[in-house]
This record gives sequence, structure tokens and C-alpha cells, in this order.
Amino acid sequence: MTNSNVVLHVADVHKRFGGLHALADIDLQVEEGQTHAIIGPNGAGKSTLLNVIIGKLAPTSGAVVFDGTVLTGKKPYQINQLGIARVFQTPEIFADLSVLQNVMIPALAKRDGAFKLNMLRTLESETEIRAEAEHMLEDVGMISRREMAAGSLSRGDKRRMELAMCLIQRPRLLLLDEPTAGMSRHDTNTTIELLKKIKSRGMTKVIIEHDMHVVFSLADKISVLAQGRIIADGTPDQVRGNPKVQEAYLGGAH
Ligand SMILES: Nc1ncnc2c1ncn2[C@@H]1O[C@H](COP(=O)(O)OP(=O)(O)OP(=O)(O)O)[C@@H](O)[C@H]1O
Ligand SMILES: [Mg+2]
Repeated sequence: MTNSNVVLHVADVHKRFGGLHALADIDLQVEEGQTHAIIGPNGAGKSTLLNVIIGKLAPTSGAVVFDGTVLTGKKPYQINQLGIARVFQTPEIFADLSVLQNVMIPALAKRDGAFKLNMLRTLESETEIRAEAEHMLEDVGMISRREMAAGSLSRGDKRRMELAMCLIQRPRLLLLDEPTAGMSRHDTNTTIELLKKIKSRGMTKVIIEHDMHVVFSLADKISVLAQGRIIADGTPDQVRGNPKVQEAYLGGAH
């Protein structure tokens, strides 16, 4: 394991919300091509960490470095343009537009470098991007729902659509905040298979997940957060056997 493989480095990050130390001393190194899971009990700081990485929240101190570029201080759209895409815990979608249109939007935004006002008109005419969006919807098993209004999808389908919205950007780093939240076991398994398929294409992923079945099926490395600190990290086997983890997380969750 050499440092040259590290594509994302969260270096000494602290985040305070008033008196609350939501993140303390966070040092996290994610290697190229790996799936790195962040687990921990409710309120541990997982979403806060993700929001710091994508520039939605500024760290109180410390920095985030992606492929040699310091992200700290950059805007979310600038970080996105550097090749980082994220799936949020609560999907952010255009409810009145069709599934297909929703998936086309990030590709158009990427191509045009910004969100254009005439984009809705453009949506109708872009055959290449439309074909790519259809391909992504096939990948996530949603092609039959492409004409449905996104707002009328089930929670699980919204998450899969949002995954397609990320994949169409062909990011180097994909961040997922509980990608299987609200899904049935069957949909969860479909999503695991999909994420494995993405992994085989070499995409680096950081995944926040409560579902241990998902974590242990996917992760190469796991970092355990509790009360804003990383209390353990290592391979799934190392983390599974760590008594601190069982006490802080696995014990508390069951
Ligand atoms: N914008 C904010 N302002 C103030 N406090 C916040 C803010 N966002 C999060 N917190 C607090 O920071 C702590 C960490 O929250 P965070 O959402 O990162 O946890 P989490 O690990 O993602 O939890 P969950 O598993 O429930 O999603 C919590 O105590 C939360 O209440
Ligand atoms: Mg969260």
C-alpha cells in the first residue's frame, strides 16, 4: 500500500457546529479503485464528513485533497467538475420531469459547464445524451420507467435513478450516503450487484451505509466513526473482529 494510490485524502479535518464537535481529527485515505465504507451509529458524523468532502460544508480546520488538488474552499459544482459525484441520503431530483430527463440533466450540465436556462428545450433534442441516459437506466434496471414522472417513483427507484444521474457523469470518485436506505431486500441485492459492476470498471467509491450486509459485500476497507472520531479502520475482517467496533456500533445497532 503506497501513498501514490491515494486519490482522496481527508487530512486532519475538524467540524464544529457551535459547541458540538461533529468531526474531530479525521484522517482518511481512499485508494484508487477501492470501495471504502464509512460506518457508525446515528449522529456519528458520517453525512457531515461526506458534506465536507463535496464542499457543501466547510471544515472548521483541516483540508480535503483529491488527486493532488485541495478541495477546501471550492464550491460544490467545482468539486463535481473535478470528477466527484454523490448520492445523498435523501435523493435530490426534479419531481415533475421524467426519469429519462432527470438522468440527462447532469450530462448536459457537465457538457455545458453550467446549468443552462434553456436546458429543458435542449432535453428534447440531444439524441446522444438521451442514448447514454437510456443506457444508464438499463444499468440500474429502470429502463421501463423512463417516461414516468420522477416524483411518482418509489423511494428505492428514486435512489436508483439518482445513481444513474451520478453514473452518467462518469465520475472518478462516487460518494454514496446510504444508497440502499428504504429499499426492499431484493432491491438492495440488485443495488449491491450494480455497485459491484461499477467497481469492476475501476471507479473509486466512498459509501456510507447502515446495512452490514451491504458493507461487508462491497467494502475493501472500512472506517468506523463514533461521536465524530474514527475509532477503527481496516479490512472488513479486521473491523468485524475489533471489540471497540462491536461495542460502539454493532452492539448498539442490534
Ligand atoms: N447543520 C448542522 N447544524 C448543527 N448540527 C448538525 C448539523 N448537521 C449535523 N449536525 C449534528 O452533527 C452530528 C453528526 O450528524 P450527521 O448527520 O453527520 O450524522 P450521521 O452519522 O450521518 O447520522 P445518521 O446515521 O443518522 O445519518 C449530529 O449530532 C447532528 O445532530
Ligand atoms: Mg447521515
